[in-house]
Amino acid sequence: MTSNVPTVHDITFYSNVEKQETRYASVKHAFSEKFGVSPEFFSRAPGRVNLIGEHIDYCHFSVLPMAIEVDVIAAIAARKDNIITIANTDGKFGTVEIPLPQHLGDEIPINKDSPTWADYFKCGLVVARKYMLESGNGNLCERGSLKGFFALFDGTVPTGGGLSSSAAFCIAATLAVLRVNGVTAISKADLTKITVVCEHYVGLSNGGMDQSASINGEDLKVLLVSFKPELSAVPFKLPATDPETVFLISNSLVTANKTETAPQNYNLRVVEVAIAADIIAQKHGLNVAKDSNIGTTTLRGVFDAYFTQKLGMDAWDGTDIDIGIPRLEKMLNVIEEMYDESERDGISVETATRLTNLDPEMFEKTYFSHFPVKFSKLNIYRRSRHVYSDSLRVLQTLRVARNFSGDSEAFLREVGALMDSSQQLTREMNQASTAQCDEICALARKNGSFGSRVTGAGFGGCIVHLTTVEKLPQLVSALTENYYEKYFPRISAEELSEAIVVSKPAMGACIVQI
Ligand code: ATP
Ligand code: GLA
Repeated sequence: MTSNVPTVHDITFYSNVEKQETRYASVKHAFSEKFGVSPEFFSRAPGRVNLIGEHIDYCHFSVLPMAIEVDVIAAIAARKDNIITIANTDGKFGTVEIPLPQHLGDEIPINKDSPTWADYFKCGLVVARKYMLESGNGNLCERGSLKGFFALFDGTVPTGGGLSSSAAFCIAATLAVLRVNGVTAISKADLTKITVVCEHYVGLSNGGMDQSASINGEDLKVLLVSFKPELSAVPFKLPATDPETVFLISNSLVTANKTETAPQNYNLRVVEVAIAADIIAQKHGLNVAKDSNIGTTTLRGVFDAYFTQKLGMDAWDGTDIDIGIPRLEKMLNVIEEMYDESERDGISVETATRLTNLDPEMFEKTYFSHFPVKFSKLNIYRRSRHVYSDSLRVLQTLRVARNFSGDSEAFLREVGALMDSSQQLTREMNQASTAQCDEICALARKNGSFGSRVTGAGFGGCIVHLTTVEKLPQLVSALTENYYEKYFPRISAEELSEAIVVSKPAMGACIVQI
C-alpha cells in the first residue's frame, strides 16, 4: 500500500479496450456539450467483489475481496468560480450545483436522513478537504479556498448491488477534488485511509473493505485486506487451476439500499457486534481498547485479549494462519458456552444491559446514540457466531490456497465448500441473505458452481460463484433460464449481460489522462 495512486495515459488496462474507448469518447462528448469546455482528466474507481469474509471488516478481521472491472469514472474540468457542478450520464441522478464554502473551516452540510447522490459526492469533498488541510498536500492551503469544477460521472457498477458502487463513487469524487486542488500525488495508503470514512458522513457505519479493494486492486490478484495491527491490502494470486478458475457474479436484481435500510440491517449489525464484544469482555474480565467505529471494543479486540490476558498466550500478529485457525475454533466454543438455548434466538435490551454490566442510561448512550437502529430483539449469539466463523473461513481459504499441490478439483471443492458454508451462516446467523439470493445459490450449485454466496452487505444484491471456464456455459444458461427468464421475463439481452458477469481481479483507482 506504499505506492501512489497511478495516473495512466491510456486505457489498455480494461479487457475490452474498444468498448471503453467508445465509452470515454461519449462521456467526453457529453461533457463538452453540457459544460462548453473539454474535460482535463478523468478520476476513476472500480467496484469490488468480496470472495469470503462478510460483515467482519468492522470487527477488524481480515477479508478477501478483489477489485473488478466495472467502475465509476468522472470527467473533470476546473472552473474559475467556487461552484462544483456535478452531472451524470444516468438520468436518475439529476445535475446539482454545490456552492463551495467561503472559509476553509465552514461546514459542508450533508443529509444523513435521506442522502441523495450529491450527499455521497460531498462525502468525498469533505474527506479530501480535511486531508489537504492536515497534510498540506496540494495548493488549498496557499489559495485559502476550494476550487470549483465541472464533473460528469458515468458508472457501470450497479447501485445497491453489493459491488460497492457507493465506495467507487465516493473515491472517484475524492480523487477529483484532490486533483483539481493541486494534489498530483497521493499514496494508495493515504487515499484508502481518508475514503474509508466517507460513507460515515451519510450515516453508514461501514468497515474498510470496499475502499481498500477499490484503491489497491491489481490485475489478476485478489487482496488480503487486514485491519490489525494497521490497515493493509496485500495483493496475491490464487493458484492457477486447470481448467481455469472463474468468478461469476450474478445480480439477484433485488436492490439493497444499504443506507436507507441501515437502521434494521447494516448499522444494526454494527451495534449488535459491539454489544457482543463488550459482553465477552465483561464475562471474561478483559481489558480491551475501544477502537470500533462507535467507540466500543470489537470482536477482534476481545478475541486477542482472550488469548493474551485470559490464557496468557503470545499475541497473534494476524498473519500466521496456523495460530489464527485454532484460536478462532476455540473462540467459537467460548461463544457456545456463553449463551444458553433461551438466549440464542435474540435477547432483550434489559438482558443485554445486564450482560454488559452497564446501567440503562449508559447502555443507551453507548450503543444507541450514534445512529438510529430498529429491532425487536438483539441477536448477539447469532452475530458472534457469524463473525468468528466467517473470520475462520477466511483463514481456511488462505490455508487451502497455501497448500495447493496441483490438484485443481480438490482446491475448487474445498474453497467452494467454504463459500457455501459462509452463505449458510449469512442466511442463518447474520440473516443478510434473501429468498432470491438463496434460490440463485441453490440453482448455481446444481449447475456447475463449486460454491456460491451473497457478496457485500447483502440483503439483496449480487452473488459470487466459484466455477471454471469449462463449467461456465452450463452455469450461465441455468441462471438465465431458471432465474432471469422466469422472474424477469421482459429482461433485455443487454440487461442480462449486465446481470451475469465474469469477473477477473482488476486494477484499482487511478487518474486517467487521455
Ligand atoms: P454495497 O456497498 O452493498 O456494495 P452499493 O454501494 O452499490 O452497495 P449503496 O450503498 O446503497 O449501494 O449506495 C448506492 C448510492 O451510491 C446511490 O444511491 C448513489 O447515491 C451513490 N452512487 C453509486 N454509484 C453512483 C453513480 N454512478 N452515480 C451517482 N451516484 C452513485
Ligand atoms: C458493505 C460495507 C463493508 C462491509 C460489507 C460486508 O459493503 O461497506 O465495509 O462491511 O458491507 O462485508
